[in-house]
Amino acid sequence: MSAKYDELASITVCMGSSCFARGNGDNLEVIEQYLAENNVRARVELTGSRCEGLCAEGPNLIVNGRPFQKVDRGMLLDLLREVCPTTESTYE
Ligand code: FES
Repeated sequence: MSAKYDELASITVCMGSSCFARGNGDNLEVIEQYLAENNVRARVELTGSRCEGLCAEGPNLIVNGRPFQKVDRGMLLDLLREVCPTTESTYE
């Protein structure tokens, strides 16, 4: 419960057409909903990017500099809990 929140988490969502169609449209909604419901929006730098040339592996995200491919809702929620933990992680 004594997590440190000194540093902003960084999440970059590929918003190229392939990644968007493969799931990043929904993933972006999951991220925004998680941040809003847990009142942690100020702790995350959320940005979008254009096609990163890895369309076949999408949907792609970069979290704190680490690339993630084929990101689905379950993986995304695990990542959010890791980089932006809350005291009440009831979001499912
Ligand atoms: S659209 Fe995301 S890598 Fe191409």
